Amino acid sequence: MQLTITEDYAALSRAGADYVAALIAASPAAALVVATGNTPMGVYSALAARAAAGTLDTSRLRVFQLDAYAGLAPDDRRSLFRWTNESFLAPLGIRPDQVVLLPDDAPDPDAACRAYDAAVAAAGGFDLAILGLGPNGHLGFNEPPADPGLPTRVVRLSEESIASNAAYWGGRDAVPRAAMTCGMAQLLAARHTLLLVSGEHKRAILRRTLEGPITPDVPASFLQRAAGVTVLADRAAWPDTV
Ligand code: GLP
Repeated sequence: MQLTITEDYAALSRAGADYVAALIAASPAAALVVATGNTPMGVYSALAARAAAGTLDTSRLRVFQLDAYAGLAPDDRRSLFRWTNESFLAPLGIRPDQVVLLPDDAPDPDAACRAYDAAVAAAGGFDLAILGLGPNGHLGFNEPPADPGLPTRVVRLSEESIASNAAYWGGRDAVPRAAMTCGMAQLLAARHTLLLVSGEHKRAILRRTLEGPITPDVPASFLQRAAGVTVLADRAAWPDTV
């Protein structure tokens, strides 16, 4: 695991974009799984600028959605696919046929999760997982306790995740209680992982993730023994090592 500390969020976003762009240049048909949440938005904006400038070829990528709320209506404003589309897919010029989503309006979410894992397997696994860190150590919506072998599946959101997701939608009552998440097994098998962590509020959970015991109570702690993990954190999230 490699930890890189940046001065601030802007520098984190530039460094993250450099990392992702280099990986895409080396592997133009890479399979990526991409998070929503606030942290990766700067990286995605920087990548979009490169795509617009013609210096990033996204035409052969395969992109997988990381997580989704379950049981939404087709046009629900809280669709995490919509967020992925508006922040990453559309700005980077990625076509629908390049995308595997977790359909938040699926009539049978369990079947949708099984189909997703079949698509991950058919792609040969992920070349790159771009992840954020939940305040309780979750990856995607792999809520604690989360064993490393768990597949993509339907989950109930924890109270901590409901509280943190409230910021996205204007309050706790607006947060759906059920979700689908890419499994721990699929994420931990990624050949490369970029974990993006920003802000003082992530300080304690980042320390537990990187230095605490490897435990289902901190799902992200399993990254300690995964291959190819790069952690990009800003000084606010990791103040002691600069
Ligand atoms: C959310 C999402 C994750 C995201 C994480 C961190 O609940 N399920 O995919 O990475 O929490 O979000 P943020 O980057 O906004 O802190």
